[in-house]
Amino acid sequence: MNDGQELRRRQAYSIGDVQVVPAAAALGAEIRGVDLTQALSAETLDAVNQAWSEHEVLLFRDLDLTVEQHLAFAGAIGDLEPANLATPLTAKYPDLIEISNVDYDTGTPVKNRLGNSEAYWHTDMSYREVPPKASCLIARELPPDGGDTSFCSMYLAYEAMGDDLRAEVEGLTAVHDESRNAAGKLREGYEDVTDPELTPGPRHPIIRTHPVTGRKALFLGRRPYAYIPGLSVAESEELLDRLWAHATQARFVWRHRWRLGDMVLWDNRCSMHRRDAFDGQYRRVLHRTQISGDRPY
Ligand code: SIN
Repeated sequence: MNDGQELRRRQAYSIGDVQVVPAAAALGAEIRGVDLTQALSAETLDAVNQAWSEHEVLLFRDLDLTVEQHLAFAGAIGDLEPANLATPLTAKYPDLIEISNVDYDTGTPVKNRLGNSEAYWHTDMSYREVPPKASCLIARELPPDGGDTSFCSMYLAYEAMGDDLRAEVEGLTAVHDESRNAAGKLREGYEDVTDPELTPGPRHPIIRTHPVTGRKALFLGRRPYAYIPGLSVAESEELLDRLWAHATQARFVWRHRWRLGDMVLWDNRCSMHRRDAFDGQYRRVLHRTQISGDRPY
């Protein structure tokens, strides 16, 4: 990163009418001056995309968007794709899921799906051969405390790797477990396989190149049951543990405390995220869209 880019990472600036206010952290920026209730002009969309390329995660605040307006914004960023999870709104909006701890029949908080537990560091749907490039999450109901979502820059994690570690993982792939969700719960239809050599899921390069920025990033997906083909299980576990300890250091992280009206757009090709647990007596409901990507290379 050169000095100009470093400055843009820290100071507020404008791209046309779009104001970009970087988070005081490794990644992330708030976007101001964009009316998301209207279709975006080509210039505004370009500016949003440019800011997104520069900051990996964008925050829009004080929104009062309908589901259709959320879908329209995410659809302007790219083609939408369904998750492998059906929630009540999915029947009407196939590309939208509810990230929620609420029982759909009774309306009370429950512990199914992600429930109120912590969601570990992960990249959305990296267990697909062609994972979505982005996710766009909007807060609909929030608990009074907890449930913060943190983001971690996989560009910075890659760039801060020592030469030895980089040389060790160059050219290696990892299997991304498709059988469990981000809270470690087994998905419907999968067996409880615990030998990492038998983990079901696609192989992706551990170092990937971002197709838009050309920058390299670590691409780790999820830690549990990941496996590096060609290594013994013990070697794979040891190397993955080292990579994960390196990649999730606080210096690469931005933690977002949600407010109602917040929407966050993150880039799955160069960031990971996790969510804190929260008090299970409260409802937490967010709507997420997934935006199609390319096969990692
Ligand atoms: C997600 O991992 O997509 C959801 C994160 C959150 O609930 O904040």
